[in-house]
Amino acid sequence: MNILIMGPAGAGKGTMSERIIAEYDIPHISTGDMLRENVRNETELGLEAKAYMEAGKLVPDELINAMVEKRLQESDCEKGYLLDGFPRTLVQAEEFAKIADRINKPIQAVVALEVGIEALEQRITGRRICPKCGAIYHMQSHPPKVEGTCDECGSEIIQRKDDTLEQLQVRMAEYEKSTKPVIEFYETQGLVHHIDASKTQSEVFALVKEALGKVA
Ligand code: AP5
Repeated sequence: MNILIMGPAGAGKGTMSERIIAEYDIPHISTGDMLRENVRNETELGLEAKAYMEAGKLVPDELINAMVEKRLQESDCEKGYLLDGFPRTLVQAEEFAKIADRINKPIQAVVALEVGIEALEQRITGRRICPKCGAIYHMQSHPPKVEGTCDECGSEIIQRKDDTLEQLQVRMAEYEKSTKPVIEFYETQGLVHHIDASKTQSEVFALVKEALGKVA
């Protein structure tokens, strides 16, 4: 299945993605993760993207579109894909429609996670991630078994540089201005499944599965 997952910063896109890819056996294509890897490896793209990301701003569309088109042509996408964090501007959505056409992989479902701002603040400030394997934790709701250490690979977990209340405000403003119109774009195509993502992780996943189960 070809799926997009959308929602504001901290809504649980990465968390739900881990469960969706296990259920549907498709690759998780997160533009945020791909960009962070480029920043870590100090690639040309990473060096360009770094300042935008740390400020909570969106990285320019042309850099992202090229990165995604290349990734979707890898062989693991033959059985489908889960796109997370892309498209998040109308320019990206329009370009992606052309890419999906070229590679004959149209989007079949858009999962839109919805959570109120107070919960987002708690999720963002309490989040920790593993820089090595990408596992996601929360200091209160989903802590690692050993403090400060990733359960999956034993690496030291860290806080993302953009996970502050100040950066969250910038990211929410970007979301309202640039990304909500993308949800409306897919709404007109009848593809969007709105999910109440303020519930527990298991409850949210049950809602996602129910919605995706209705997709032919
Ligand atoms: P990206 O990495 O995509 O960040 P984001 O959209 O801001 O989303 P997050 O990763 O912050 O949150 P999430 O929804 O995945 O939440 P998570 O599952 O971790 O992008 C980062 C930056 O890269 C952007 O700001 C931009 O600069 C750049 N970028 C990326 N894509 C781009 C694009 N297409 N164009 C331009 N620029 C781009 O969950 C959050 C926390 O909540 C965790 O601690 C988790 O444990 C907890 N949690 C999750 N679900 C629940 C639940 N149900 N109950 C309680 N806690 C929960």
